[in-house]
Amino acid sequence: METLFSGIQPSGIPTLGNYIGALKQFNEIQNDYDCYFCIVDQHAITVPQDRLKLRENIRKLAAIYLASGLNHENITLFIQSEVPAHVQAGWILTTISSIGELERMTQFKDKSQKQTEGIPAGLLTYPPLMASDIILYNTNIVPVGDDQKQHLELTRNLVDRFNSRYNDILIKPEIRMPKFGARIMSLQDPTKKMSKSDDVTKNFISLLDEPNVAAKKIKSAVTDSDGIVKYDKENKPGISNLLVIYSSLTNKSIEEIVSQYEGKGYGDFKGDLAEIVKQFLIDFQEKFNYYYENKEILDEILDNGRDKASKVANKTLKKMENAIGLGRKRR
Ligand code: TYM
Repeated sequence: METLFSGIQPSGIPTLGNYIGALKQFNEIQNDYDCYFCIVDQHAITVPQDRLKLRENIRKLAAIYLASGLNHENITLFIQSEVPAHVQAGWILTTISSIGELERMTQFKDKSQKQTEGIPAGLLTYPPLMASDIILYNTNIVPVGDDQKQHLELTRNLVDRFNSRYNDILIKPEIRMPKFGARIMSLQDPTKKMSKSDDVTKNFISLLDEPNVAAKKIKSAVTDSDGIVKYDKENKPGISNLLVIYSSLTNKSIEEIVSQYEGKGYGDFKGDLAEIVKQFLIDFQEKFNYYYENKEILDEILDNGRDKASKVANKTLKKMENAIGLGRKRR
């Protein structure tokens, strides 16, 4: 069986964008792969985090992974900082990354612009750490949203570079993105990505938003003035984004939805979508509460995940260190 790896940062509560772009895909293909899902807390600290909030978000993210339908008996769910091999391999890959290529990453450019007290060096060296997350598990496939594409391309380059410089031991991963929904946009500014770390809460729907509040956010989402429910990403980004959300949550095709609303206005469409989102969140949060409140079950899942992930990760790390000549030769 091939291996799948993906990660989410506990830098806030995941949004409907994270669900549609990532969690939903994980759920759909979990039985086809040996799956590793990671709570990447060391990535989250590349920008300042509050200690207590971070701890809480880590636990919530674990419960959110499970609430999205992942079967904990078949997958490996774990916390990045509990498997030290990630930063160890991350360091190795940092040494073969060039500053120029890291500076070219759009996420680095975006996030560094927002820093007011100097740019943390970790923001620059984020991608080799992400590459190490992936390669440690001999990963074949990485399901992600559109914003991670550039990081995945860099990962593939780093694999080639490592293999040709040292020894041919790392597997080159493939990226997997959903056909629709790889980039869910902000509700108030549909030219911007929906993000869990956005300061303006009306821009996104968090998976833990009160369902009625989320419904209101859908109803007040920015659209346009021509009043026709139609998919046209360039000219009608607001309504197109809502159509993608509608389609993802109902599994109906965009064409089907468009014909359903022929001759009707945005009011009907948004009213129905608000109800769909509300019902989705009610169901989701019921499952979330089960895992979040049953601390022992969640801890056992994360302990088992850590142990299983560590075994695989340490083996790859050893191979890398041997290939480079680090430490003493051991059998
Ligand atoms: P993060 O935490 O920002 O996002 C988690 C996943 O959600 C996807 N995503 C979206 N998809 C659709 N529309 C959106 N608006 C949207 N926003 C986010 C992301 O593409 C991602 O799949 N660097 C990663 C975390 C990471 C990782 C990894 C991922 C660390 N190591 C190894 C894969 C493999 C990140 O910041 O994701």
